[in-house]
Amino acid sequence: MKVGFVGWRGMVGSVLMQRMREENDFAVINEPVFFTTSNVGGKGPDIGRDVPALKDAKNIDELKAMDAIVTCQGGDYTSDIYPKLRAAGWTGYWIDAASTLRMADDAVIVLDPVNRNVIDSALAKGVKDYIGGNCTNSIMLMGMGGLFREGLVEWVSSMTYQAASGGGANHMRELIKGMGVVHAAVADELATPSSAILEIDRKVAAAIREDVPTEFFGAPLAGGLIPWIDKQLDNGQSKEEWKGQAEVNKILGTDATIPVDGLCVRIGAMRCHSLALTVKLKKDLPLEEIEAIIKSGNDWVKWVPNDREISVKELTPAAITGGLEVGVGRVRKLNMGGEYLSAFVIGDQLLWGAAEPLRRMLRILIE
Ligand code: HSE
Repeated sequence: MKVGFVGWRGMVGSVLMQRMREENDFAVINEPVFFTTSNVGGKGPDIGRDVPALKDAKNIDELKAMDAIVTCQGGDYTSDIYPKLRAAGWTGYWIDAASTLRMADDAVIVLDPVNRNVIDSALAKGVKDYIGGNCTNSIMLMGMGGLFREGLVEWVSSMTYQAASGGGANHMRELIKGMGVVHAAVADELATPSSAILEIDRKVAAAIREDVPTEFFGAPLAGGLIPWIDKQLDNGQSKEEWKGQAEVNKILGTDATIPVDGLCVRIGAMRCHSLALTVKLKKDLPLEEIEAIIKSGNDWVKWVPNDREISVKELTPAAITGGLEVGVGRVRKLNMGGEYLSAFVIGDQLLWGAAEPLRRMLRILIE
């Protein structure tokens, strides 16, 4: 199989390459071909064997020679190149991290530990477009997939705490710069134990208002939060909030729509997205049964008992970042009644939220 890679040098692409090396994926790809938008003829990445010189990611003829194309190049690239490729008669598999094609009728959103059945039936029908889901939705389903699989979910209210990485590499840098600005504003006072905390607070507030960089986020994130992610829609939702119901139902291939809604908030974490969920169950099940169903969702569910000490240690970005485990904890019945469940789900935005479903889809195609 000839597999073309586009956008492998960016943040999601780099994580994809790293994971593919770790899982020895390149050993099962006969001909990996690397494309570039800026360095045609340059040297490809180190994948443990020789690869041809970089090819032009805008050259339809070169792309057409591929059996599958995996792209992390972004939505503009997809909008530009994908229609031209299909118009030129290309019938290969398109695996894409961008959202452009996600909701298209003939595209499947891939998250195989949750929707392998949907993927398999699409493959059998000849579907060729396999698109990675929105990170928050993928993480939620990786954590709570067991309850959806059992048909137990009536609706979900999903309040998110989304990391800087969801915006991109520049956004991550801006967050760290902002943290530095805040610290620098009061470094002297902090070094003096006797300094007045309200004076420190005043200077920090001024630094956040005036000096923390906002070029990429549009508002100061360091020392704060931003209660809006992505575009504004006419119905009052943000685009990120709209994706919740649309994508979750598409991923699951539901017949009757399961309502999913809530507020999406950017916080100052680097690459872990979290969600505080209220789940309305279809029936009042004992907590032990709920725990067993959630744990049975997939191999990456990291169940965290609803205990203070364990939660503050294990259910945090510090514990989860950089790994494939999706933490699920704070699970308890709410005062609203026995069918109302709380849960806190946390996962690495760049792994299950972006790169991992793509490399696994490629493996499914090859094997
Ligand atoms: N839209 C998401 C975010 C990331 O901004 O956090 C991409 O799925």
